[in-house]
Amino acid sequence: MTKTKRTQVAIIGAGPSGLLLGALLHKAGVDNIILERQSADYVLSRIRAGILEQVTVDLLHEAGVGSGVENHGTIHHSIELVFKNERHPIDVTSLTEGKVVTAYGQTEVTKDLMQHRALNKLETIYEAGEVELHDFESQNPYITYKIGDETHTLYADFIAGCDGFHGVCRASVPKGSIKEYEKVYPFGWLGILADVPPVSPHAIIYANSDRGFALCSMRSMTRSRYYIQCAMEDKVENWSDELFWAELKKRLDPELASKIITGPSIEKSIAPLRSFVAEPMRFGRLFLAGDAAHIVPPTGAKGLNLAATDVKYLSTAFIEYYKEKSSAGIDHYSSRCLKRIWRAERFSWWLTSLMHRFPDTEGFGQKVQEAELDYLVHSKALSKSLAENYVGLPLDFAE
Ligand code: APR
Ligand code: PHB
Repeated sequence: MTKTKRTQVAIIGAGPSGLLLGALLHKAGVDNIILERQSADYVLSRIRAGILEQVTVDLLHEAGVGSGVENHGTIHHSIELVFKNERHPIDVTSLTEGKVVTAYGQTEVTKDLMQHRALNKLETIYEAGEVELHDFESQNPYITYKIGDETHTLYADFIAGCDGFHGVCRASVPKGSIKEYEKVYPFGWLGILADVPPVSPHAIIYANSDRGFALCSMRSMTRSRYYIQCAMEDKVENWSDELFWAELKKRLDPELASKIITGPSIEKSIAPLRSFVAEPMRFGRLFLAGDAAHIVPPTGAKGLNLAATDVKYLSTAFIEYYKEKSSAGIDHYSSRCLKRIWRAERFSWWLTSLMHRFPDTEGFGQKVQEAELDYLVHSKALSKSLAENYVGLPLDFAE
């Protein structure tokens, strides 16, 4: 094995951001190599959200990996809000002149992208240890990493930091060059995946109840994903499947609760809720994309969609650089992304604030939340605002 390689774009991280970037660049003839810390199986074992905006579905098609979502995705035309034990549909499609979202799991998106990469013989180096970035402020950046005990070097024109929130790329930027904005919410989500038909196969259900938030989602017509708000310090071991199902039902309206089909969980985990943005997203020849640069709380399912649009802007910028010898896209990458990111940050924060029980907000805060929910379901203007953010902004929004 040679210990030195060269490529045009070195991508760090084989999550959805890195894999989609690799596919879009390959399609345009731009060489890339992905370095991933984990094994492919480990990457696929992480369960994340599963609602795709049309912009994301279109990007999967553009990258040549659209057949999975086309054949196995489920179109959603509405969402339902539950509060005070009543269900209120929001007809997203009619409020947005025909737009829809598609339920298709992030795990499936990742699997499709991995298969496409393997089929096209594109290089992904899994289990790359001790990845380190060097000289990214110069014209000649490079990366060192370890395979077993051997140190390898990868030279590239550009480095794409697609290595998630805990990755090495953002951490390699000098503290004085980056500004971080963060909000941590005082609760988590306990989620389970189960091979049972979803209670609401054509709309995600968001429930605000006295006992806390609950969400009914799906991965397919035979696989469901449900969540309940839990305390930040709660542990998965505290929740048997029976306890989970019983608590979920208590947070839904009685009719819906009676329709829930329960079964053994195949995955159960607790996720913290965080809003986070790092600015800027470019440092010389290093570009951050996806969770490496920003996190949204999962309410509204914007994480994967934001990652996809970052990567679209980034691939366009690199392609322009190679084909048209123009640096314009590269120079505008960060500001272009951040405009869209802050819109989604606002939306995710707002929906999180509206739907959850906050430990320190009793009385007044709760009454205002109820009034806003009541206003939302009775006002076309507010419902339209929810719907247009839920289906996502167009790609050229930031122009
Ligand atoms: N070296 C190499 N790879 C790394 C390193 C490192 N030092 N650190 C992290 N990685 C890898 C992780 O193992 C992971 O596979 O980078 C990948 C990052 O993937 P994600 O965390 O899935 O981030 P991203 O691809 O940006 O996807 C964003 O994932 O978290 C959700 O809500 C989010 O849906 C959104 C999507
Ligand atoms: C999910 O399916 O995991 C999901 C769906 C909608 C959300 C959040 C998560 O708002």
